[in-house]
Amino acid sequence: MDKVARKAILRTKIIEQRTALTKHEVSCLSQKIASNLFDSHIFKEAGLIMVYMAFRNEVLTKSIIEKSWVAGKKIVLPYVVSEQKTIIPSLVGNLQTHLITGAYGILEPDPQHLNPVEPVQIDLVLLPGVAFDYQGNRLGYGGGYYDRFLPQCGSNTIFIALGYHFQVIKDLSDLVEKHDQKVHYVITDQEVLYIEC
Ligand SMILES: Nc1ncnc2c1ncn2[C@@H]1O[C@H](COP(=O)(O)OP(=O)(O)OP(=O)(O)O)[C@@H](O)[C@H]1O
Ligand SMILES: [Mg+2]
Repeated sequence: MDKVARKAILRTKIIEQRTALTKHEVSCLSQKIASNLFDSHIFKEAGLIMVYMAFRNEVLTKSIIEKSWVAGKKIVLPYVVSEQKTIIPSLVGNLQTHLITGAYGILEPDPQHLNPVEPVQIDLVLLPGVAFDYQGNRLGYGGGYYDRFLPQCGSNTIFIALGYHFQVIKDLSDLVEKHDQKVHYVITDQEVLYIEC
C-alpha cells in the first residue's frame, strides 16, 4: 500500500477517536493543553501568534486567543485560499465581528477586511493536526495547506502542534513524504514534546 493510502487509514482511525470525545472532554482536555502552552517560555515570549479556529473536536483555542490579547500579543488567523491550497495569515482583534464561516465551514477572517502579515513576522504558529510523533512529524487533513505555508515563515518562527494524547503516535516516519513539514513542539494534555532538530 502506498503512503497516501496508509496516511488515509491512520487519519480515519484517529479522527474517529477524536469524534468520540464528548464536549465536556474536549473542554477539559483543551484547558490542560492551553495551560501547558501558557507555561512555556515560547508562548510567554511570542508577540505575534498564529492560531487556528477549532472545528470538529479539535483542541479549543478561544482561551489561548483571549489570554494572548490580555497579555498584549497580536493574533493572526488563517484565511484559506482553496484555489491555491494556501493560507494568508490575517490580523484579528475581535472574534465576534471579524470572522465569517469560510472554506470547510471553519471560522476565518472576513475577506472584506483582511489585514495580512508577512509570515516571517510570526513568532509562533499553533497548528491543529490529526497525528504527531516524537520526531515532530505531523499528519494533517490531507490538503497540504500547512505544508505549503510553514516554509514561508522565518527561521525563528516556532511551530507548535496542539493535540490530544491519543494523537501522538510513536513513529510516523514511514508515512512522511518529502513535502511534509515538521513541528518544533507537540503539546498535548499529558506531555510537552520538544523536538531536537
Ligand atoms: N509544498 C508543497 N508543494 C506542492 N504540493 C504540496 C506541498 N505540500 C503538500 N503538497 C501536496 O498536498 C497534498 C496533501 O499533502 P499532505 O497529505 O501532506 O497534507 P497534510 O499534511 O495532511 O495537510 P496540511 O499540511 O494541510 O496539514 C499532497 O498531494 C502533496 O503532494
Ligand atoms: Mg503533510
